[in-house]
Amino acid sequence: MTDQKRNILLTTALPYANGSLHLGHMLEQIQADIWSRFQKMRGHECYFVCADDTHGTPIMLKAQEQGIAPEEMILKMQQEHERDSADFQIGFDCYHTTHSQENKELACKIYSKLKQQGHIKSKTISQLFDPEKNMFLPDRFVKGTCPRCKASDQYGDNCDQCGAIYAPVDLIDPKSSLSGATPVMKDSEHFFFDLPAFEPMLESWIHSGALQPEIANKMQEWFKDGLQQWDISRDAPYFGFEIPDAPGKYFYVWLDAPVGYMSTFKKLCAEKKIDFDRFWDASSKAELHHFIGKDIVYFHSLFWPAMLHGSDFRKPTHVHTHGYVTVNGEKMSKSKGTFIKARTYLEHLDADYLRYYYATKLNSKIDDIDLNLEDFAQRVNSDLVGKLVNLASRTAGFIHKKFDGKLSASIENKTVIQACIDKQEEIATLLEQREYNKAMREIMALADQANAYVAQQEPWKLVKQDETLEQAHQVCSLALHTFKILMTYLKPVLPNLAQKAEAFLNVQLAWEDISKPLYCHEIQAFKALMQRIDPKQIEAIVEASKKEQNVQQAQVEKQESSAVKQDPISETISFDDFAKIDLRIARIVQAEHVDGAQKLLQLQLDLGDEKKQVFAGIKSAYAPEELVGKLTVMVANLAPRKMRFGVSEGMVLAAGPGGKDLWILEPHLGAQPGMRVK
Ligand code: 2FM
Ligand code: ZN
Repeated sequence: MTDQKRNILLTTALPYANGSLHLGHMLEQIQADIWSRFQKMRGHECYFVCADDTHGTPIMLKAQEQGIAPEEMILKMQQEHERDSADFQIGFDCYHTTHSQENKELACKIYSKLKQQGHIKSKTISQLFDPEKNMFLPDRFVKGTCPRCKASDQYGDNCDQCGAIYAPVDLIDPKSSLSGATPVMKDSEHFFFDLPAFEPMLESWIHSGALQPEIANKMQEWFKDGLQQWDISRDAPYFGFEIPDAPGKYFYVWLDAPVGYMSTFKKLCAEKKIDFDRFWDASSKAELHHFIGKDIVYFHSLFWPAMLHGSDFRKPTHVHTHGYVTVNGEKMSKSKGTFIKARTYLEHLDADYLRYYYATKLNSKIDDIDLNLEDFAQRVNSDLVGKLVNLASRTAGFIHKKFDGKLSASIENKTVIQACIDKQEEIATLLEQREYNKAMREIMALADQANAYVAQQEPWKLVKQDETLEQAHQVCSLALHTFKILMTYLKPVLPNLAQKAEAFLNVQLAWEDISKPLYCHEIQAFKALMQRIDPKQIEAIVEASKKEQNVQQAQVEKQESSAVKQDPISETISFDDFAKIDLRIARIVQAEHVDGAQKLLQLQLDLGDEKKQVFAGIKSAYAPEELVGKLTVMVANLAPRKMRFGVSEGMVLAAGPGGKDLWILEPHLGAQPGMRVK
C-alpha cells in the first residue's frame, strides 16, 4: 500500500426485482467490482454493497400477472440476481433488498427528519384514475394520441414520434394500458419533497468534484430550468412502505430505493461489527461512491444528496456515471438476439472474457460502450490467450522438464521485469481514476515487450544444449516473473484467471509483492489457464437469446390471446352468467399481421353500428387476406384487454385442435353484422 488507508463504501444501482440481469447491468457491476477489488488489494478498508429494488407499480402488477404475492416474486428474483452476479465474480460484501426492516426504518427516519425540518409539503393534485382497476395510473400506463403531432399509441408523458413532452391529461383519447378503460380525473393528496430549497447546497456540492464534468454541466442546465417540488407519495394500491401517519399513502419507489444503499450497509455492519455512523454521519471522513448509468443521474445528483443533506447525513463523495451498452453498434435488440441475459452469457463463456473486454472499453467518461461481438472474441483471444497466458504456456513446460519445476536463483537481464515494475504507480493511478482502457493498454504493451524478448531468445532452442541451459532457465523464469506481475495488475479484472494463476505459480498475487522476485521458487505443473473463444460460442449465445425471446413472447401471447381456449371446461356456469355473454355476428373488414407476434392477427370487426378491434390467435390457420369479408361470431361485451400490441376489444370464436386445424365460426350467409347470436 502506498497511500494512507482509506475507508470506502461503494455501490452499484439497485436492479429492479422484475427482470433478469443482462449485459447492460453487468457493465456497471464489472466496472464497480474492478474498482472495489483494486481498492481492497491496495489495503484500503472497502465495502461493496447492492440490493434489489423491489417496490413500485410495475413490480406490483407483474406479480399480479404471475398470480403470486409480490413478496414471493421479489424473493425469487433476488436469488436469481445474486447467483448471476456471483457467477460474474462480482464480490459484493452484502446483497440485500429494499423490502427489508432496515430499509423501512431508515426510509421512515429520513422522511420524518425531512418533515420535521419543513422539507415536506402536501398538496392535492388531480390525476388520471383507472375506474376499472380502481387505481391511479402512472404516466407510462396511459396511452393515447399525441396532442402535438396526433401520432396514436403514445405514452402518457412523451411522444416518441415528435418528442413532445406533456402531462397524461393532455393526451387525446387516453386509455389505460391496464384495462383499456378511459381514465377519469380524480383528486388526491400528495406529499412533495422541497427540492428547490436545496439548490444552493447542490450548487456548491457539484463543485466538490463529486461529478464528472459532463454531469456537472447538465446540472447547471437543470438549475437554469429551475428545480421542481418532487412528488414522493403514491396512493394505494401500491407495493412499498406506508408513509408514517398517512394511511393509504406509500413512499414512491424512488424515495426508498437509494435508502437501500444505507440499509444494505447497515445489515453488513451488523454482520461484521462495523460502525455504521462512521460512514454515514454528516461529518464522516469515509468515502461514499455510487456507480450508476446515465439514465438515473437526476435521482443521484439532485434528490439523493438533497435527501441526505436534509436529514443530516453525509453526501456522496462521488457519483460515477457510465454510458449505455450497445451491441454491434446498436441498442440491444431482442429479435436480433443481442439482448443478452447474464445467465445466457454464463452458460457459454467464462465471466473473465467479458470483464476484460469491458475493461478495455471503459474510461471515466459517460460515452456508450459498444460490445462488438466479433471484436470481443478477437481481443480476448489475442490479448489474454495470445499475449498474457502465452508468456506462461510457452515457458512453463521447460521449467518442469529441465529445472525440476524451480525458477532460477537470479535474473541477470532485469530490463523487461523492471519495465513491468516501473509501471506500478501509473497503472494504479489509471485504475483509481477508472481509466481502465488505458491501464489495459499499458499492461498489454508490457506483455508484448516480454513476449518479444522470449521470441528473440528462443528458449526452445537454448534448452537443447548444455552450454545454453542456464540461459534457457533465465529466459523462462523471466517470462514467468513477468506473467506474475501482469497477473497481479489484472487480478481485479480477471478473478477467475488470477485464481488459476495463483495455483500454478504457487503464490498469492499481492499488490505489495509486485517487485518481490520468486528466486528458486517452485511452481506447479502448467495446466491450460484459458481457452480461446470459439466464434461458435458467440453464435450460440445469440441464438439462445433469440430463442428465449421467442419462448417469452409465445408465453405472453398465449396468456393474451383468448381466441382458442383448449382447456377442458371444468366448472359449470350459471344460466345468468351465460346470459351475460353478448355474442354478435361481425364482419371482418380488415385483417393484418402483427409486427413481432407469432400467433396473432389484428382484426377490425364491423358490428353494424360499431367497430371493434380484436387480436386473435389464429395466424397458424389463416392468412389475413382469407379472412377479409368473412362473417364470424364474437363476444362483444368482453372488457377491453391491454395486450402488448394494442387493446383487444372482444373475442372471436374458433374451434379445432390448433395449428392449421382451427376454424373461426362462420354463420349462415343471411346473417347480418350486429345480429345477436341466440
Ligand atoms: O433504474 C433502476 O434500475 C433503478 N432500480 C435503480 C435504483 S438505484 C438506487 F437509487 F436505488
Ligand atoms: Zn407527437
